[in-house]
Amino acid sequence: MKTRERVMISVLGAKLDAPGQWRPTLQCVRRPDLLAVDRLIVLEQDKTSEYAVALVRDLKKLAPSVQVERVPIPLENPWDFEEVYERFYEFCRAQTWDDRCEYYVHLTTGTHVMQIVWYLLVSERFAPARLVQTRPGKRDGPPGPLDIVDLDLSRYPAIARRRHTQQLEGQSLLKMGIETRSEVFAGLIASLERAALGPPVPLLLWGETGVGKSALARRIYALRKARGALDGPLVEVNCATLRGALRESALFGHKRGAFTGAERDRKGYLLAADEGMLFLDEVGELGLEEQAVLLTAIEEGRFFPVGADTPVHSRFALVCGTNRDLRVEVQAGRFRDDLLARISTWSFCLPPLRERREDIEENLRFELERFADTYKRQVRFSRAGLKTYLAFARSEQARWPHNFRDLSQSVLRMCASASEGLIDTDDVASEITRLSELWAPATGGGLAPSYAAQQGAENAPASLHRVERVQHALVLEALRRSRSLAEAGRWLFDGDSAQGAKTNHSDRARKLCARMKIDPLAYLQS
Ligand SMILES: Nc1ncnc2c1ncn2[C@@H]1O[C@H](COP(=O)(O)OP(=O)(O)OP(=O)(O)O)[C@@H](O)[C@H]1O
Ligand SMILES: [Mg+2]
Repeated sequence: MKTRERVMISVLGAKLDAPGQWRPTLQCVRRPDLLAVDRLIVLEQDKTSEYAVALVRDLKKLAPSVQVERVPIPLENPWDFEEVYERFYEFCRAQTWDDRCEYYVHLTTGTHVMQIVWYLLVSERFAPARLVQTRPGKRDGPPGPLDIVDLDLSRYPAIARRRHTQQLEGQSLLKMGIETRSEVFAGLIASLERAALGPPVPLLLWGETGVGKSALARRIYALRKARGALDGPLVEVNCATLRGALRESALFGHKRGAFTGAERDRKGYLLAADEGMLFLDEVGELGLEEQAVLLTAIEEGRFFPVGADTPVHSRFALVCGTNRDLRVEVQAGRFRDDLLARISTWSFCLPPLRERREDIEENLRFELERFADTYKRQVRFSRAGLKTYLAFARSEQARWPHNFRDLSQSVLRMCASASEGLIDTDDVASEITRLSELWAPATGGGLAPSYAAQQGAENAPASLHRVERVQHALVLEALRRSRSLAEAGRWLFDGDSAQGAKTNHSDRARKLCARMKIDPLAYLQS
C-alpha cells in the first residue's frame, strides 16, 4: 500500500516526448498500475518548444490528478558532461527533499550524458531517489514495462556478497595477511578499509613505537593502488629526520638561486607525491613554519617552493603518522590546532602489542615465514618450545615496549640460534632471559637508577618524548624525597647558577609539575 507521496523527476525528451512519438514522460505518469505518481517535475531546456507546451497540455487532460511542476534547465550543450553535471547538481542542491516523499528519476528521456549524470548524483545521494527506466509497448498494445533501479547496492544479495568478499580481501591486505583475534584491531581495520577507499581525505595513524604505523601506511597505499584509487607514487617522509634550514626546501622544493648552495631547482616531497600518496611520519616533529605551509598545501592544493613567485600544484592523498598525542602538542603550542583538525579527518589509534596478546601466536607464524622468505631457511618451534614462549609472551611479565619490533627481533634471534631448524625449550629459555634483561630497568651509568628505571613506566603520559619522560621521572623522584615544593625545586634545580640566589624554587617546581600534568600533593612526603 502506498503511504508516501510519489514524485517523479523527468527530463523533457528532445524527440521522444514530441506529439506523435512514444512520449515516455507522459506514459509513465498515466500508468498508476506501474507507478502511481502524484507529482511530476519536468526539467525543460526550452519552455516554449512546441512539444513542451503540448506535453503540459496533454498531461492536464490525460492525468489531471498529477501535479506538474516545470523547472527550466537551460543547457548550451546537453552532451557536455561538465555543463550537465553542474546544472543538475544545482537543481539537486536547490531542491527541498522531503522525507515524506518517495522520489524517482526517469531516465528514459534526455541524452546519455544526462543519464550518466543522474546515475552519479543518485549514487552520491545528492538526489535521494531511485532510477526508473521505461520501455515502449507494442503498437496498439498495452504500454511497455517499467524497471526500477535502486542504487543502494546492499539491497541486492549477490552484489552485497561480492562487495563483502572484496572488503575482506582489502582488510586482509591491510593486515598483511595476518589474522587477528582482537576485536579492537579487527574493528579498526574494517573502518580503515572503508576510509582508505572513500573520498581521499587525510588519515592519521597514531600509536606507540613499533605498533605498525609505517607498515600500515604502505599497505593503505598498496590497497588504494590495487583498487585504482590513485596511480602516482608513494612518498614517505620521516619528519623527525628533516633538520635545519633545508627542511622547508625538502618538503616544498626550492628554485635555483633561492639561497646559497641552491644550484638547481629542487622538486620537494609534496610535488613528488602528485597524484599519489604522501606519508608524513612523525608529523608532530614538523616546525610551526612548515605546518603553516602544509596547511595551505592541503587546503588549496598549491604552495610556493622556497624562492618561487608562482605556486605549484600537487594533489596527493595524505597519511600522517605519530607516536605523540597531538592534542597535547596543540595544548603545548607545538602543533597547530587547525592543521590537526585537517589531517585527522580519519584518526586511527593502533593498539600496542600488550593489548593484543591474543594475536601473538599468529604473528609468530608470520615472523617465521618472513624469516624463511628472507634468509631461505625454514625454522620451526618444538611443541614444548612454542608452549613456553607463548606462555611468557602472553603474560604480564612481557611488556613489549617496542611492540612488533620487539617480537620480530626476538623471533629473528631464536631462528638464528636454533640448531637443525628447531627452536626448542632451551632456545626459548635463553630468549626469555634476554628479553627480561633488555626490558629490565637500566642500572648504573650516569642517570640515577630510580628515574632511569621509571623512564616511560610510571604514569608518564605516552605523549611525552624520551627526554620529557626522564624529566617526568625526575620530578616524581624529587617530590618523593621532599616535604615541600620549595625543597623539591631546590633538589631539581640544584647547581643552576644562571638563576641566582633569589630564585623561587617552589614556583619553578609548581610550573614544571603543571607542564608534566603531575599533582605534587600526591607525591610529596606528608
Ligand atoms: N600488524 C603487524 N603484525 C606483525 N608485524 C607487524 C605489524 N605491524 C608492523 N609489524 C612489524 O613490526 C615492525 C615495526 O613496524 P612499523 O615500523 O610499521 O612500526 P611504527 O609504528 O611505524 O614504529 P615507529 O613509531 O617507531 O616508526 C616492522 O618490522 C613491521 O613489519
Ligand atoms: Mg614508523
